Amino acid sequence: MRWTFDNIPEQSGRTAIVTGANAGIGYAAARALAMKGARVIMACRNRERGEAAVARVAAEQPAGSVELAIIDLASLESVRAFADSFEANGSGVDNGRLDLLVNNAGVMIPPQSKTADGFELQIGVNFLGHFALTGLLLDVLARTDDSRVVTLSSLAHRGGRIDFDSFWGARHYKPWREYQQSKLACLMFALELQQRLHARGFQVSSLAAHPGGTKTDLQRHNRALMWAMSLLGMSADQGALPTLFAATEPRARGGEYIGPHGIYEIRGYPTAAKIAARARDTEMSRRLWDVAEKHTGVRYLS
Ligand SMILES: NC(=O)c1ccc[n+]([C@@H]2O[C@H](COP(=O)([O-])OP(=O)(O)OC[C@H]3O[C@@H](n4cnc5c(N)ncnc54)[C@H](OP(=O)(O)O)[C@@H]3O)[C@@H](O)[C@H]2O)c1
Repeated sequence: MRWTFDNIPEQSGRTAIVTGANAGIGYAAARALAMKGARVIMACRNRERGEAAVARVAAEQPAGSVELAIIDLASLESVRAFADSFEANGSGVDNGRLDLLVNNAGVMIPPQSKTADGFELQIGVNFLGHFALTGLLLDVLARTDDSRVVTLSSLAHRGGRIDFDSFWGARHYKPWREYQQSKLACLMFALELQQRLHARGFQVSSLAAHPGGTKTDLQRHNRALMWAMSLLGMSADQGALPTLFAATEPRARGGEYIGPHGIYEIRGYPTAAKIAARARDTEMSRRLWDVAEKHTGVRYLS
């Protein structure tokens, strides 16, 4: 079966947060959720780009609503401020519910740089920022029936290895290695989160998704990849389907990893995706959780 936008169930009454919602897959997912009736908080780091994205969705007169909230995942202070303000403002709007958190924002192979807290940018934004955000929003997720967390991984997770020392920036920066590591960490986090939620009887589900090869700004630091994606990549609307399946499909279950069904999972429609053995290393996943708690100062489900 080809699962498409038409298969997304009605979302009215539901509240979603999508990080990195001003562009690419995040924008497409936020738009689709709003068109289906959800209240969507488009969590973006840049006010101007965020406002433009919100205006673009609003101009389509969605059945739901969109609003902008600022978050810079490269700053734990900003992540905390976002969560505090969501808790403070959200409760007045819809009794403080949060049905869906989409951990989507990401950077790939940027020039060597660090987050405000001193972490290598890719592990900091893609993984540690979302780890902290999820923990800070867990109370409100737990107060909402059948809520979900969807975390974006990548085919790149298959080549990843966790090297805790490199979280502070390796002496010899290898941008691909850091990206692969960050996306492996995201997948391990999504699976470990599901285990911990289940073990403690929470009604929150954690799933992961990847968009195969999708033509977005993500490839901007590599010309060859940009060119390849412009020929082979899916549109952002199609690339967002695995995320939307994980986020809304009633048959989807916690612990699942969703990606495109086609050859090598590069293109196609949502289906169960292959999880590398390394992502199922439970001992390493526990260590990763402990390290993330220590580095972010956000402790939950310990
Ligand atoms: N495209 C693909 O083929 C592909 C493949 C595998 C996985 N993915 C994953 O899919 C997700 C979405 O990527 P995309 O392809 O849609 O890329 P994109 O078009 O570059 O969008 C990335 C989004 O993340 C935001 N972002 C970056 N750094 C941030 C920060 N510090 N704080 C908050 N937001 C930040 C960006 O904001 P700005 O616009 O302000 O930079 C943008 O909104 C990523 O997690 C990526 O790893 C994509």
